[in-house]
Amino acid sequence: MPSTTNIENELHSIADQMAGIRISDCFESEPSRASDFRCTANGLVLDYSKHRINALSRQRLLELAKASELSADFDALTRGEAINITEERAALHTLLRGTREDENPQLYAEVKKTNAHLEQLVGQIHSGDRSGFGHTPFTDVVNIGIGGSDFGPKMVCRALRSENDILHTHFVANVDPQDLDETLAALNPQSTLFIICSKSFTTEETLTNALRARAWLLAAGASESDINDHMIAVTTNLDAASSFGVGPENCFPMWDWVGGRYSLWSAVGLSIALQSGWSAFQRLLNGAQEMDMHTLNSDGAENLPLMMALLEYWNTVFLKTDTHVVLPYAQRLEQLPDFLQQLSMESNGKRVDLAGATLTVPSAPVLWGSAGTIGQHSYYQLLHQGNRAFTADIILPLSHEDKDLDAQRKLVANALAQSRALLVGRDQSAARQLAAKRGQAESFAPHYEMTGNHPHSLLYFNSLTPEILGGLIAAYEHKTFFLSRLLGINAFDQWGVELGKVIGRQILTMLEHGEDLDIIDPATAVVIKAWRSINTTDTPPT
Ligand code: F6P
Repeated sequence: MPSTTNIENELHSIADQMAGIRISDCFESEPSRASDFRCTANGLVLDYSKHRINALSRQRLLELAKASELSADFDALTRGEAINITEERAALHTLLRGTREDENPQLYAEVKKTNAHLEQLVGQIHSGDRSGFGHTPFTDVVNIGIGGSDFGPKMVCRALRSENDILHTHFVANVDPQDLDETLAALNPQSTLFIICSKSFTTEETLTNALRARAWLLAAGASESDINDHMIAVTTNLDAASSFGVGPENCFPMWDWVGGRYSLWSAVGLSIALQSGWSAFQRLLNGAQEMDMHTLNSDGAENLPLMMALLEYWNTVFLKTDTHVVLPYAQRLEQLPDFLQQLSMESNGKRVDLAGATLTVPSAPVLWGSAGTIGQHSYYQLLHQGNRAFTADIILPLSHEDKDLDAQRKLVANALAQSRALLVGRDQSAARQLAAKRGQAESFAPHYEMTGNHPHSLLYFNSLTPEILGGLIAAYEHKTFFLSRLLGINAFDQWGVELGKVIGRQILTMLEHGEDLDIIDPATAVVIKAWRSINTTDTPPT
């Protein structure tokens, strides 16, 4: 087996050789390209034929995966090895959906016990046996959390939202009082349940919002003892939750062996079950478990998450693309890019490897995107005529799901049209014809040219069921993990977000008291003084 260095050196030379090819030409020279460059898993189809890839580069990428022992790494992850080296923890989000439960029977017993308690709570709330003050059945649930305590459940609730929802879900994350105030303005305190979702139970935004929600209930006539009926805590820090006033019967554990951005499968996903039902939540987990088993048992090019990872590694490290745009052509998946931003960039937005050495290759690309067709009327101009190197995932449900067939057909036509436009562009000859048609000189043609040749994947499936959604999310989780191993980095810590929190606490004091401004940069001091002059009556120091 050649070394990873040798393989990577050859991949660099292959990338150089492929620099000038037009992907669209490959379809002519390789009649079976459309079927050769795709793989499937549990109802998901990954079509990567519109990437700048050929049989040789794919073969070398698969050899790189083998030489990098990615299968052994995934085995270690699902067995619960402490692969999160800086926090000396496992990353066992797969266990939350029962994958390889036999490897960690004690931990899985805790998962099952918590899930049984969750199911009981959901049943009590849905039946009205558990109600709010004034004995009003709950109609709305507000999840107060941020980051992994927000994006995952919010994205899934949005994707599964339907006229059959049992409770209405709302998500508050920002410490900006506008976020909570706007949400509560439309709600009835007597029928509103709050989930305080925080792995650490120390996150300032979440605790601030939780205290303000508590005040809102009291102001509406709830007694101190009523509060306990309206507040559920999901955290590893049960002591802090108890100190906040959430009774032990309303505290649901999450564990330090699950990263926040990988936690929606735990009690963090309670809002999903309250909205869509316990069965739908279990179907979501089942879909993820199936993707886990696919990823454990599939080899090479058949392994969908592995191919997603190898394509991103090929594009970012060898073909030098620097952003990755996710384009779900389904309004129900409008939150997916936001979720994937944290999953990908908080996991792999790193600059040193596991040994602490500075990386010599680019790590995670900037991930962005929005639901199609909306982006077509804003940033697609840059995609088609900008000079940035990017890759894209176009995600597409095929079934119109009893929605308006005509409108859904237009949606699919746009998705496939954009994929084709990214592939073929508009060449000089066609641009010249357009200039002539507009009665303009040939010198106008460059304004109408589009290079095309933009590498992108098509990820499609029949219907966005809970199983398909669970499998899709798990596929991105495993893609993220495989990428971290190819890069040699730790996907499961996030030390980069800590500095802002430390400085934030210092500046909060300065804003409050107007002191010690000499220890920070003068520019920041100017703004602090400006804020104080508007928001306090204190006389500024002379
Ligand atoms: O952004 C930092 C971070 O720790 C995320 O990793 C996490 O999902 C989020 O803040 C919220 O943390 P907690 O769930 O502990 O409130």
